[in-house]
Amino acid sequence: MGKISIRNIVKEYNKDSLAVKGINLEIKDKEFVVLVGPSGCGKSTTLRMLAGLEDISSGEILFDDVLINDLPPRLRDISMVFQSYALYPHLSIKENLEFGLKISKVNPIEIEKRVKEVSEMLEINEYLDRKPAFLSGGQRQRVAMGRAIVRHPNIFLFDEPLSNLDAKLRTKMRFEIKQLHKKLKKTIVYVTHDQIEAMTLADRIVVMRDGQIEQEGKPLDVFNKPINKFVATFLGSPPMNLANGVIYKNFIKLEDGKLIDIPLRYKNHLSEKQKVIFGVRADSIVPNHYANIVNYVSFEETVIEEEPLGIESNLYINVGNSQFISRMNHAETVPVGTKMNFFINLDKAYLFDRATNLTIKEN
Ligand SMILES: Nc1ncnc2c1ncn2[C@@H]1O[C@H](COP(=O)(O)OP(=O)(O)OP(=O)(O)O)[C@@H](O)[C@H]1O
Ligand SMILES: [Mg+2]
Repeated sequence: MGKISIRNIVKEYNKDSLAVKGINLEIKDKEFVVLVGPSGCGKSTTLRMLAGLEDISSGEILFDDVLINDLPPRLRDISMVFQSYALYPHLSIKENLEFGLKISKVNPIEIEKRVKEVSEMLEINEYLDRKPAFLSGGQRQRVAMGRAIVRHPNIFLFDEPLSNLDAKLRTKMRFEIKQLHKKLKKTIVYVTHDQIEAMTLADRIVVMRDGQIEQEGKPLDVFNKPINKFVATFLGSPPMNLANGVIYKNFIKLEDGKLIDIPLRYKNHLSEKQKVIFGVRADSIVPNHYANIVNYVSFEETVIEEEPLGIESNLYINVGNSQFISRMNHAETVPVGTKMNFFINLDKAYLFDRATNLTIKEN
């Protein structure tokens, strides 16, 4: 089994700075959990504490309800894959795959069987006699995964395994890791700062900031219902558009005087003169001829810049003294300087309190 219970774990590297500030997380057997957050938020530290590569300053980690705080890494029934692959350069791929098993004194017939199995699964059987230096980045990455898989652990820990690969290979490997999880049916805790990787891979996404968990849940739940401004802007590309406003009667009044009807679902939780932040994702603000929206507000805006992306285009405009991006799901080109009407879908707009940065409650 591969159930993990993390109870109030803290990591203090230096006297007055905590890298991890009391994390609580229950990870189910066979679950794929992704820890995501900006650089330095404590993702690797958390993973390294699970692996036993880092002491826990306080708190408890249990695997299948057994306390493992002081259990050495080799007895934890885990395999870890790092960003840097960490293959042995002087050993062949086959020897790299066998290495851990030989150390653990697994019998040679079993080793042969597992290496064959994993090299077929990952399609690396052609390279078994080569040294790592003679493989591409993606092939090396697969060997690193193979080395983790042959050990048949109950838990896999991945720390940014794809970040050294180019964009195309990352997408391919992302798909392969997802397939692998379905095949292996094991618990995976995966660390990344890439929100697309997090969204696409995870059964459950855990958004971290500054040593703490901000929000956890199914990727789309967290994406659609972010609890605060940080989560709202961290997930999604381009990041959510934001503009400061003040509640004025039934409106949100932006800094440039624009008035937006308060979306009905927020009405009961706002007070007159409350300082808020209005948020809308790029695909929920579109030029009028693409709008097919029931509940909207529209403004005439000048296109400041355009980015044709092939399948879609981004248009830059100013709304409420902030720069907004409007995403058209069309490859239409719009000359800079063009004035056009933009429609904002109010059913997909967000409101945050400016004092707390929390999402305003809905009815
Ligand atoms: N060995 C160490 N000694 C002292 N401080 C450390 C050590 N390792 C990490 N830190 C600090 O702990 C904090 C969390 O670091 P951590 O490596 O866990 O972040 P991360 O979320 O993995 O970031 P990244 O996305 O950049 O890999 C950072 O402020 C970092 O500087
Ligand atoms: Mg890290």
